[in-house]
Amino acid sequence: MSKKLTIGMFGFGVVGQGLYDIIKTKNLNLEIKKFVIKNAQKERSLPAELFSTDASAILDDPEINTVVELIDDADAAFEITKKALSTGKNVVSANKKMIATHLQELTALQQKYGTSLLYEGAVCGSIPIIRNLEEYYDNELLHSVSGIFNGSSNYILSKIFNENQSYDAALKKAQELGFAETDPTLDVGGYDPKFKLAIVASHAYGLFVDPNKILNLGIDKLNTADIRYAKEKNFKIKLIPLAKEISNREVVLYVIPKFIAKDSMLFNVENENNGVLVKAAFADEQFFYGKGAGGHPTGSAVLSDITALRYDYRYEYKKHLDAQELAYSTNFDIKVYFRYEDENILENIAFKNISERFYGEDYKYVIGHINLQEIINKRELINQPGYFLAEIS
Ligand SMILES: NC(=O)c1ccc[n+]([C@@H]2O[C@H](COP(=O)([O-])OP(=O)(O)OC[C@H]3O[C@@H](n4cnc5c(N)ncnc54)[C@H](OP(=O)(O)O)[C@@H]3O)[C@@H](O)[C@H]2O)c1
Repeated sequence: MSKKLTIGMFGFGVVGQGLYDIIKTKNLNLEIKKFVIKNAQKERSLPAELFSTDASAILDDPEINTVVELIDDADAAFEITKKALSTGKNVVSANKKMIATHLQELTALQQKYGTSLLYEGAVCGSIPIIRNLEEYYDNELLHSVSGIFNGSSNYILSKIFNENQSYDAALKKAQELGFAETDPTLDVGGYDPKFKLAIVASHAYGLFVDPNKILNLGIDKLNTADIRYAKEKNFKIKLIPLAKEISNREVVLYVIPKFIAKDSMLFNVENENNGVLVKAAFADEQFFYGKGAGGHPTGSAVLSDITALRYDYRYEYKKHLDAQELAYSTNFDIKVYFRYEDENILENIAFKNISERFYGEDYKYVIGHINLQEIINKRELINQPGYFLAEIS
Protein backbone atom coordinates (compact mmCIF):
# COMPACT_ATOMS: atom_id res chain seq x y z
CA MET A 1 0.00 0.00 0.00
CA SER A 2 1.43 3.36 -0.94
CA LYS A 3 1.95 6.11 1.61
CA LYS A 4 -0.26 9.18 1.38
CA LEU A 5 1.75 12.24 0.44
CA THR A 6 0.77 15.69 1.64
CA ILE A 7 2.75 18.07 -0.49
CA GLY A 8 3.96 21.61 -0.08
CA MET A 9 5.20 23.03 -3.36
CA PHE A 10 7.70 25.87 -3.76
CA GLY A 11 7.37 27.61 -7.14
CA PHE A 12 4.54 27.65 -9.61
CA GLY A 13 6.39 28.62 -12.79
CA VAL A 14 7.11 26.62 -15.95
CA VAL A 15 7.88 23.33 -14.18
CA GLY A 16 5.50 23.82 -11.23
CA GLN A 17 2.54 24.43 -13.51
CA GLY A 18 3.61 21.64 -15.84
CA LEU A 19 3.71 19.25 -12.90
CA TYR A 20 0.32 20.44 -11.66
CA ASP A 21 -1.25 19.81 -15.11
CA ILE A 22 0.00 16.23 -14.98
CA ILE A 23 -0.99 15.55 -11.37
CA LYS A 24 -4.55 16.67 -11.91
CA THR A 25 -5.03 14.10 -14.71
CA LYS A 26 -4.23 11.27 -12.29
CA ASN A 27 -5.89 9.76 -9.29
CA LEU A 28 -2.86 9.47 -7.05
CA ASN A 29 -2.78 9.12 -3.31
CA LEU A 30 -1.54 12.66 -2.81
CA GLU A 31 -2.69 16.16 -2.05
CA ILE A 32 -0.99 19.50 -2.68
CA LYS A 33 -1.82 21.45 0.44
CA LYS A 34 0.11 24.66 -0.14
CA PHE A 35 2.07 26.54 -2.81
CA VAL A 36 4.74 29.02 -1.78
CA ILE A 37 5.71 31.54 -4.45
CA LYS A 38 7.62 34.81 -4.56
CA ASN A 39 5.26 37.40 -5.95
CA ALA A 40 1.94 37.70 -4.12
CA GLN A 41 0.48 40.02 -6.80
CA LYS A 42 0.79 37.56 -9.71
CA GLU A 43 -2.45 36.08 -11.01
CA ARG A 44 -2.71 32.35 -10.43
CA SER A 45 -4.86 29.74 -12.11
CA LEU A 46 -5.80 28.19 -8.74
CA PRO A 47 -7.67 29.61 -5.69
CA ALA A 48 -5.72 32.34 -3.86
CA GLU A 49 -5.95 30.60 -0.45
CA LEU A 50 -3.66 27.84 -1.73
CA PHE A 51 -0.80 30.35 -2.15
CA SER A 52 1.53 32.00 0.31
CA THR A 53 4.81 33.89 0.14
CA ASP A 54 5.83 32.59 3.55
CA ALA A 55 8.10 29.53 3.43
CA SER A 56 7.04 28.49 6.93
CA ALA A 57 3.51 27.86 5.63
CA ILE A 58 5.05 24.66 4.24
CA LEU A 59 8.15 24.08 6.31
CA ASP A 60 6.42 24.43 9.70
CA ASP A 61 3.30 22.48 8.78
CA PRO A 62 3.64 19.04 10.42
CA GLU A 63 0.99 17.57 8.10
CA ILE A 64 3.16 18.22 5.04
CA ASN A 65 5.49 15.24 4.60
CA THR A 66 6.77 16.03 1.10
CA VAL A 67 8.31 19.22 -0.27
CA VAL A 68 8.47 19.78 -4.02
CA GLU A 69 11.04 22.49 -4.70
CA LEU A 70 10.70 24.13 -8.13
CA ILE A 71 12.03 27.65 -7.74
CA ASP A 72 14.64 29.40 -9.84
CA ASP A 73 16.80 30.66 -6.98
CA ALA A 74 19.50 28.13 -6.01
CA ASP A 75 20.41 29.78 -2.69
CA ALA A 76 16.84 29.99 -1.45
CA ALA A 77 16.25 26.44 -2.73
CA PHE A 78 19.19 25.19 -0.66
CA GLU A 79 17.83 26.77 2.53
CA ILE A 80 14.39 25.27 1.88
CA THR A 81 15.81 21.82 1.11
CA LYS A 82 18.10 21.79 4.15
CA LYS A 83 15.31 22.77 6.50
CA ALA A 84 12.88 20.24 5.00
CA LEU A 85 15.33 17.32 5.10
CA SER A 86 16.34 18.15 8.67
CA THR A 87 12.74 18.20 9.89
CA GLY A 88 11.63 14.85 8.53
CA LYS A 89 10.24 15.96 5.15
CA ASN A 90 11.29 14.28 1.92
CA VAL A 91 12.15 16.59 -0.97
CA VAL A 92 11.89 16.45 -4.75
CA SER A 93 13.83 19.14 -6.61
CA ALA A 94 14.72 20.01 -10.19
CA ASN A 95 17.35 22.58 -9.24
CA LYS A 96 20.60 21.31 -10.74
CA LYS A 97 22.71 24.23 -9.58
CA MET A 98 21.63 23.80 -5.97
CA ILE A 99 22.07 20.02 -6.04
CA ALA A 100 25.40 19.99 -7.86
CA THR A 101 26.85 22.65 -5.58
CA HIS A 102 25.74 21.09 -2.29
CA LEU A 103 25.37 17.40 -3.05
CA GLN A 104 27.76 16.13 -0.42
CA GLU A 105 26.11 18.11 2.35
CA LEU A 106 22.64 17.16 1.13
CA THR A 107 23.62 13.48 1.09
CA ALA A 108 24.89 13.74 4.66
CA LEU A 109 21.62 15.40 5.74
CA GLN A 110 19.58 12.59 4.20
CA GLN A 111 21.66 10.04 6.05
CA LYS A 112 21.52 11.92 9.33
CA TYR A 113 17.76 12.48 9.33
CA GLY A 114 16.63 9.40 7.38
CA THR A 115 14.94 11.56 4.76
CA SER A 116 15.08 11.33 0.97
CA LEU A 117 15.99 13.88 -1.71
CA LEU A 118 15.21 12.94 -5.32
CA TYR A 119 16.15 15.02 -8.37
CA GLU A 120 15.56 13.18 -11.64
CA GLY A 121 14.05 16.36 -13.16
CA ALA A 122 17.31 18.25 -12.55
CA VAL A 123 19.22 16.28 -15.19
CA CYS A 124 18.06 16.17 -18.82
CA GLY A 125 14.39 16.94 -18.17
CA SER A 126 12.30 13.91 -19.01
CA ILE A 127 15.15 11.42 -19.45
CA PRO A 128 15.35 8.94 -16.54
CA ILE A 129 19.12 8.86 -16.21
CA ILE A 130 19.78 9.33 -12.50
CA ARG A 131 17.72 6.42 -11.27
CA ASN A 132 19.21 4.26 -14.05
CA LEU A 133 22.77 5.13 -13.10
CA GLU A 134 21.95 4.58 -9.46
CA GLU A 135 20.05 1.29 -9.80
CA TYR A 136 20.39 -0.28 -13.20
CA TYR A 137 24.07 0.40 -13.76
CA ASP A 138 24.86 -0.37 -10.16
CA ASN A 139 27.41 -3.06 -10.97
CA GLU A 140 28.34 -2.18 -14.55
CA LEU A 141 31.78 -0.93 -15.40
CA LEU A 142 30.97 2.44 -16.89
CA HIS A 143 33.51 3.68 -19.41
CA SER A 144 31.80 7.02 -19.94
CA VAL A 145 28.60 9.01 -19.77
CA SER A 146 28.23 11.91 -22.17
CA GLY A 147 25.60 13.52 -24.32
CA ILE A 148 23.62 16.65 -24.87
CA PHE A 149 22.42 17.91 -21.51
CA ASN A 150 21.37 21.47 -22.32
CA GLY A 151 18.24 21.97 -24.43
CA SER A 152 18.70 25.68 -24.86
CA SER A 153 22.20 25.67 -26.36
CA ASN A 154 21.29 22.63 -28.45
CA TYR A 155 18.26 24.51 -29.79
CA ILE A 156 20.52 27.44 -30.72
CA LEU A 157 23.04 25.15 -32.45
CA SER A 158 20.24 23.43 -34.38
CA LYS A 159 18.87 26.74 -35.63
CA ILE A 160 22.38 27.85 -36.65
CA PHE A 161 23.31 24.60 -38.40
CA ASN A 162 20.00 23.61 -39.97
CA GLU A 163 18.34 26.94 -40.66
CA ASN A 164 21.30 29.30 -41.01
CA GLN A 165 19.93 31.52 -38.27
CA SER A 166 22.16 33.94 -36.42
CA TYR A 167 23.31 33.12 -32.90
CA ASP A 168 21.43 36.11 -31.44
CA ALA A 169 18.14 35.34 -33.22
CA ALA A 170 18.31 31.71 -32.13
CA LEU A 171 19.03 32.65 -28.50
CA LYS A 172 16.11 35.08 -28.46
CA LYS A 173 13.76 32.40 -29.79
CA ALA A 174 14.97 29.88 -27.17
CA GLN A 175 14.19 32.43 -24.46
CA GLU A 176 10.72 33.11 -25.89
CA LEU A 177 9.99 29.39 -25.92
CA GLY A 178 10.98 29.05 -22.25
CA PHE A 179 13.95 26.70 -22.82
CA ALA A 180 16.59 29.16 -21.71
CA GLU A 181 17.49 29.85 -18.08
CA THR A 182 16.72 33.37 -16.85
CA ASP A 183 20.45 34.13 -17.25
CA PRO A 184 21.41 32.69 -20.69
CA THR A 185 25.13 32.46 -19.78
CA LEU A 186 24.20 29.47 -17.63
CA ASP A 187 23.16 27.64 -20.81
CA VAL A 188 25.41 28.93 -23.59
CA GLY A 189 28.45 29.19 -21.31
CA GLY A 190 28.11 25.52 -20.41
CA TYR A 191 27.36 26.02 -16.70
CA ASP A 192 23.97 24.29 -16.71
CA PRO A 193 25.32 21.12 -18.38
CA LYS A 194 28.27 21.24 -15.96
CA PHE A 195 25.94 21.14 -12.95
CA LYS A 196 24.15 18.18 -14.53
CA LEU A 197 27.48 16.50 -15.24
CA ALA A 198 28.52 16.82 -11.60
CA ILE A 199 25.28 15.10 -10.57
CA VAL A 200 25.75 12.40 -13.22
CA ALA A 201 29.34 11.82 -12.04
CA SER A 202 28.06 11.28 -8.57
CA HIS A 203 25.61 8.56 -9.57
CA ALA A 204 27.86 7.02 -12.24
CA TYR A 205 31.14 6.95 -10.32
CA GLY A 206 30.35 7.77 -6.71
CA LEU A 207 32.31 11.02 -6.79
CA PHE A 208 31.47 14.34 -5.24
CA VAL A 209 33.16 16.99 -7.37
CA ASP A 210 32.74 20.69 -6.75
CA PRO A 211 31.37 22.12 -10.04
CA ASN A 212 33.83 25.02 -9.71
CA LYS A 213 36.60 22.50 -10.31
CA ILE A 214 35.08 21.23 -13.58
CA LEU A 215 36.00 22.94 -16.86
CA ASN A 216 33.14 24.35 -18.87
CA LEU A 217 33.57 26.09 -22.21
CA GLY A 218 30.42 27.17 -24.01
CA ILE A 219 29.16 27.96 -27.48
CA ASP A 220 29.01 31.71 -26.97
CA LYS A 221 32.30 32.37 -28.85
CA LEU A 222 31.29 30.32 -31.92
CA ASN A 223 31.50 32.30 -35.18
CA THR A 224 30.69 31.79 -38.86
CA ALA A 225 34.19 30.53 -39.67
CA ASP A 226 33.80 27.67 -37.17
CA ILE A 227 30.40 26.83 -38.59
CA ARG A 228 31.77 26.86 -42.14
CA TYR A 229 34.66 24.63 -41.09
CA ALA A 230 32.25 22.15 -39.46
CA LYS A 231 29.93 22.08 -42.45
CA GLU A 232 32.76 21.53 -44.92
CA LYS A 233 33.75 18.42 -42.98
CA ASN A 234 30.13 17.25 -42.52
CA PHE A 235 30.31 17.82 -38.79
CA LYS A 236 27.87 19.51 -36.47
CA ILE A 237 29.02 21.30 -33.35
CA LYS A 238 27.30 20.22 -30.13
CA LEU A 239 27.94 21.19 -26.52
CA ILE A 240 29.09 17.95 -24.87
CA PRO A 241 29.58 17.17 -21.19
CA LEU A 242 31.74 14.11 -20.60
CA ALA A 243 32.35 11.90 -17.56
CA LYS A 244 34.93 9.27 -18.42
CA GLU A 245 36.96 6.78 -16.48
CA ILE A 246 40.55 6.92 -17.68
CA SER A 247 43.34 4.62 -16.61
CA ASN A 248 44.51 4.43 -12.98
CA ARG A 249 40.93 4.47 -11.64
CA GLU A 250 40.64 8.17 -12.40
CA VAL A 251 37.65 10.03 -13.78
CA VAL A 252 37.76 13.13 -15.95
CA LEU A 253 34.86 15.54 -16.25
CA TYR A 254 34.50 18.47 -18.62
CA VAL A 255 32.05 20.39 -20.80
CA ILE A 256 33.43 21.48 -24.18
CA PRO A 257 31.82 22.09 -27.59
CA LYS A 258 32.63 19.21 -29.90
CA PHE A 259 32.61 18.49 -33.63
CA ILE A 260 30.24 15.56 -34.03
CA ALA A 261 30.27 13.28 -37.07
CA LYS A 262 27.24 11.67 -38.72
CA ASP A 263 27.88 8.25 -37.21
CA SER A 264 27.40 9.54 -33.66
CA MET A 265 24.05 9.03 -31.94
CA LEU A 266 24.29 12.65 -30.89
CA PHE A 267 24.41 13.99 -34.47
CA ASN A 268 20.63 13.93 -34.85
CA VAL A 269 19.72 15.19 -31.39
CA GLU A 270 18.20 18.51 -32.35
CA ASN A 271 16.47 21.49 -30.80
CA GLU A 272 15.54 21.26 -27.12
CA ASN A 273 15.98 17.50 -27.08
CA ASN A 274 18.65 15.89 -24.96
CA GLY A 275 20.56 12.66 -25.38
CA VAL A 276 22.60 10.63 -22.93
CA LEU A 277 25.17 8.17 -24.23
CA VAL A 278 26.30 5.52 -21.77
CA LYS A 279 29.30 3.38 -22.67
CA ALA A 280 29.76 0.35 -20.47
CA ALA A 281 32.01 -2.69 -20.46
CA PHE A 282 29.28 -5.28 -20.79
CA ALA A 283 26.13 -3.51 -21.98
CA ASP A 284 28.27 -1.69 -24.58
CA GLU A 285 26.74 1.51 -25.93
CA GLN A 286 23.28 2.68 -24.85
CA PHE A 287 21.47 5.83 -25.75
CA PHE A 288 18.68 7.72 -23.97
CA TYR A 289 16.84 10.36 -25.93
CA GLY A 290 14.05 12.76 -25.01
CA LYS A 291 12.93 16.25 -24.19
CA GLY A 292 15.45 17.96 -21.95
CA ALA A 293 13.36 20.92 -20.87
CA GLY A 294 9.86 22.34 -20.70
CA GLY A 295 7.11 22.19 -18.11
CA HIS A 296 5.49 18.88 -19.01
CA PRO A 297 8.62 16.82 -19.78
CA THR A 298 10.37 18.02 -16.62
CA GLY A 299 7.11 17.75 -14.67
CA SER A 300 6.91 14.12 -15.73
CA ALA A 301 10.32 13.36 -14.17
CA VAL A 302 9.34 15.27 -11.03
CA LEU A 303 6.12 13.27 -10.80
CA SER A 304 8.05 10.03 -11.11
CA ASP A 305 10.14 11.08 -8.09
CA ILE A 306 7.07 12.11 -6.12
CA THR A 307 5.35 8.81 -6.73
CA ALA A 308 8.56 6.93 -5.85
CA LEU A 309 8.40 8.62 -2.44
CA ARG A 310 5.05 6.94 -1.83
CA TYR A 311 7.11 3.76 -1.52
CA ASP A 312 9.90 5.42 0.49
CA TYR A 313 12.37 5.32 -2.38
CA ARG A 314 15.76 6.90 -1.73
CA TYR A 315 19.10 7.00 -3.50
CA GLU A 316 21.46 4.71 -1.63
CA TYR A 317 24.65 6.40 -2.91
CA LYS A 318 26.18 2.93 -2.82
CA LYS A 319 28.93 3.85 -5.27
CA HIS A 320 30.16 6.54 -2.90
CA LEU A 321 30.81 3.89 -0.31
CA ASP A 322 33.00 1.92 -2.75
CA ALA A 323 34.51 4.96 -4.41
CA GLN A 324 37.64 5.30 -2.33
CA GLU A 325 39.72 4.03 -5.21
CA LEU A 326 38.26 6.42 -7.78
CA ALA A 327 39.61 9.93 -8.01
CA TYR A 328 38.77 13.01 -10.01
CA SER A 329 41.54 13.92 -12.44
CA THR A 330 42.25 16.74 -14.86
CA ASN A 331 45.30 15.10 -16.36
CA PHE A 332 43.93 14.07 -19.74
CA ASP A 333 44.98 14.99 -23.28
CA ILE A 334 42.22 16.25 -25.57
CA LYS A 335 42.41 16.81 -29.31
CA VAL A 336 41.06 20.26 -30.06
CA TYR A 337 40.39 22.77 -32.79
CA PHE A 338 41.40 26.21 -31.57
CA ARG A 339 40.56 29.36 -33.50
CA TYR A 340 42.53 32.39 -32.43
CA GLU A 341 43.14 36.00 -33.37
CA ASP A 342 46.57 36.89 -32.09
CA GLU A 343 49.26 34.32 -32.90
CA ASN A 344 51.25 35.26 -29.78
CA ILE A 345 48.67 33.33 -27.81
CA LEU A 346 50.15 30.07 -29.05
CA GLU A 347 53.33 30.85 -27.15
CA ASN A 348 51.34 31.06 -23.95
CA ILE A 349 49.35 27.87 -24.33
CA ALA A 350 51.24 24.59 -24.18
CA PHE A 351 49.95 22.26 -26.86
CA LYS A 352 51.32 18.70 -26.64
CA ASN A 353 51.45 18.64 -30.43
CA ILE A 354 49.93 20.49 -33.37
CA SER A 355 48.85 18.39 -36.34
CA GLU A 356 47.22 21.05 -38.52
CA ARG A 357 47.47 24.81 -38.92
CA PHE A 358 45.46 27.26 -40.95
CA TYR A 359 46.63 30.82 -41.23
CA GLY A 360 44.43 33.27 -43.13
CA GLU A 361 44.09 37.01 -42.79
CA ASP A 362 41.00 36.85 -40.62
CA TYR A 363 40.74 33.16 -39.78
CA LYS A 364 43.44 31.20 -38.03
CA TYR A 365 43.24 27.89 -36.28
CA VAL A 366 45.33 25.01 -35.06
CA ILE A 367 44.37 21.42 -34.38
CA GLY A 368 46.35 19.49 -31.81
CA HIS A 369 46.42 17.88 -28.41
CA ILE A 370 46.29 19.86 -25.22
CA ASN A 371 46.06 18.73 -21.62
CA LEU A 372 42.78 19.38 -19.80
CA GLN A 373 44.66 20.97 -16.89
CA GLU A 374 46.35 23.38 -19.34
CA ILE A 375 42.93 24.43 -20.69
CA ILE A 376 41.79 25.02 -17.10
CA ASN A 377 44.93 27.04 -16.33
CA LYS A 378 44.57 29.16 -19.49
CA ARG A 379 40.77 29.37 -19.49
CA GLU A 380 40.76 33.18 -19.46
CA LEU A 381 42.96 33.33 -22.57
CA ILE A 382 41.14 30.57 -24.40
CA ASN A 383 37.64 31.76 -23.62
CA GLN A 384 38.02 35.42 -24.58
CA PRO A 385 36.10 37.04 -27.48
CA GLY A 386 37.75 36.18 -30.81
CA TYR A 387 38.81 32.70 -29.68
CA PHE A 388 36.97 29.38 -29.81
CA LEU A 389 37.98 25.93 -28.69
CA ALA A 390 36.17 22.70 -29.54
CA GLU A 391 37.04 19.04 -29.19
CA ILE A 392 37.60 17.17 -32.45
CA SER A 393 38.22 13.49 -32.99
N1 LIG B 1 12.10 25.23 -17.29
C1 LIG B 1 12.63 24.05 -17.54
O1 LIG B 1 12.48 23.52 -18.64
C2 LIG B 1 13.42 23.32 -16.50
C3 LIG B 1 13.89 22.04 -16.76
C4 LIG B 1 14.60 21.34 -15.77
C5 LIG B 1 14.81 21.93 -14.54
N2 LIG B 1 14.35 23.19 -14.32
C6 LIG B 1 14.60 23.77 -13.00
O2 LIG B 1 13.37 23.86 -12.30
C7 LIG B 1 13.38 25.00 -11.44
C8 LIG B 1 12.19 25.91 -11.77
O3 LIG B 1 12.34 26.36 -13.11
P1 LIG B 1 11.16 27.09 -13.88
O4 LIG B 1 11.57 27.12 -15.30
O5 LIG B 1 9.85 26.49 -13.52
O6 LIG B 1 11.26 28.56 -13.26
P2 LIG B 1 10.21 29.78 -13.41
O7 LIG B 1 9.23 29.50 -14.48
O8 LIG B 1 11.02 31.02 -13.46
O9 LIG B 1 9.41 29.74 -12.03
C9 LIG B 1 10.06 29.94 -10.82
C10 LIG B 1 9.06 29.91 -9.70
O10 LIG B 1 9.76 30.04 -8.48
C11 LIG B 1 9.12 31.00 -7.66
N3 LIG B 1 10.14 31.54 -6.74
C12 LIG B 1 11.33 32.15 -7.04
N4 LIG B 1 12.02 32.44 -5.92
C13 LIG B 1 11.26 31.98 -4.87
C14 LIG B 1 11.41 31.96 -3.46
N5 LIG B 1 12.50 32.47 -2.88
N6 LIG B 1 10.43 31.41 -2.71
C15 LIG B 1 9.32 30.87 -3.28
N7 LIG B 1 9.12 30.85 -4.62
C16 LIG B 1 10.07 31.40 -5.40
C17 LIG B 1 8.54 31.98 -8.63
O11 LIG B 1 7.51 32.68 -7.99
P3 LIG B 1 6.53 33.71 -8.76
O12 LIG B 1 5.59 32.82 -9.53
O13 LIG B 1 5.87 34.45 -7.69
O14 LIG B 1 7.44 34.52 -9.65
C18 LIG B 1 8.04 31.03 -9.73
O15 LIG B 1 6.75 30.53 -9.41
C19 LIG B 1 14.75 25.65 -11.63
O16 LIG B 1 15.63 25.14 -10.66
C20 LIG B 1 15.18 25.16 -13.01
O17 LIG B 1 16.59 25.13 -13.17
C21 LIG B 1 13.65 23.90 -15.25
